[in-house]
Amino acid sequence: MSYDKNWAKVDASTLPDIKVPTPGPRSKELHARAEKYMKGYSSQVKLFPVAFESGRGVTLTDADGNTYIDFSSGIYVTNLGHCHPKVVEYIQKYTSQLMNCHDYTTEIKTLFLEKLASVTPGNLNGIQMYCAGTEAVEAGMRAARACTNKHEFFSFYGDFHGKTLSAVSLTETANYTSGPRATGTHLAPNGHCYRCPFEKTYPGCNIFCVNALKKQIEMEGTGNVAGVVLEPVQGWKGSVVYPDGYIQKIRKMCDMLGILMVVDEVLTCCARTGRMWCVDHYDVTPDIMILGKGLANGFPCTAFAIKEEYVEVLEKISASTSYGGNPMASAAGLASLEVIEEENIVERAAKLGDFIIRRLNKMKDSHKIIGEVRGKGCLLGIELVKDKETKEPFIDAGNKVYQKAFARGVAWIPSKQNLRMSPPLIMEEDLAAKALDIIEESIAEVEKEYGYQ
Ligand SMILES: Cc1ncc(COP(=O)(O)O)c(C=O)c1O
Repeated sequence: MSYDKNWAKVDASTLPDIKVPTPGPRSKELHARAEKYMKGYSSQVKLFPVAFESGRGVTLTDADGNTYIDFSSGIYVTNLGHCHPKVVEYIQKYTSQLMNCHDYTTEIKTLFLEKLASVTPGNLNGIQMYCAGTEAVEAGMRAARACTNKHEFFSFYGDFHGKTLSAVSLTETANYTSGPRATGTHLAPNGHCYRCPFEKTYPGCNIFCVNALKKQIEMEGTGNVAGVVLEPVQGWKGSVVYPDGYIQKIRKMCDMLGILMVVDEVLTCCARTGRMWCVDHYDVTPDIMILGKGLANGFPCTAFAIKEEYVEVLEKISASTSYGGNPMASAAGLASLEVIEEENIVERAAKLGDFIIRRLNKMKDSHKIIGEVRGKGCLLGIELVKDKETKEPFIDAGNKVYQKAFARGVAWIPSKQNLRMSPPLIMEEDLAAKALDIIEESIAEVEKEYGYQ
């Protein structure tokens, strides 16, 4: 199909467009009605209970008619912008042609599998499709168990891998469950240099944390370790980027121990970090890679990809689900992969990310409460602290800055003292600059309230 490649262009001077103080009356009413039945909203929603009505490209419009600059992409999902015309057209075709036929093959599913296998790194050609990132993580773990006949997994402090029992057991926040982690799951200190769990300094540390991980696997494992599961950039923990050499050292360690490296790229995949896959930054090929979020630009469609030598093992773990790989999901996935190529999305993400991180670093120099700026491509964040020396987390400031910037028209993502930014990868720099102005004004206002200026 052909479409106007400038479909998402906006006049930055007209945005954001906040017509009524937000959350406005209609948002409040809808939220209150929904909340009567549904509990457990994210802190993002609790701190700013707006109700959205529509999204187009790089903007979101709420139920009161206010239009925001989107610095969230849902939650790292709509990488190509809301309602990308090609993605919409592909999905629409199958909403009237064939919505579901269990796990039978369809032409669109075959085309999507072929396309995905052609762009995954190395020989990650074995694919199964699911509907949620969590489900794909679970399936990836099942695949790792089937490949190794072992069942123990190590993941990392600060990781988030989903909310079913196995996936949540690999996740730092145990508060999503009301009981112990699944047996055989272990959490290890990670290479978060700003808050090094070993209080060491990179690069002098020689990436000691991976030596410690190896020791932990040898001491805590019972000889049944299937693999290590990691996020190549930690999203929930505040866009934590690992130092160069860390991911590579884990790869070497896995090879040395004969265990699998499972990389959870649910959040980082499909150009989000300025490369097609985050592992491309490190020249590393995992044994299993989990994909989600940006894979189909908003339509539920996730997958794992596994090395060719393990493909036959997949026969042991049935791929059939009610919805995985359904024609609409396959169409959305295929359209998204095509758009990434046709619109040079990888390069655009890298360029936009560079622009934003340069501005954030400038902000850090002139604001006492910005402790660290983090990012890879368009997966970005800042951490607010009470004091740059002690690095004491400034959670109240994080919440307030989030709310103030949102009220001025920037839809973004909080995580306590960490403020996360994830613009659609198609955003132009002038609009990103406006969002960053608003964020800086909000930081300055909070600093003033707490007596920092
Ligand atoms: C790294 C990572 N893995 C897995 C998940 C779970 O994905 P989903 O919410 O689609 O189940 C997420 C969600 O945020 C994630 O960030």
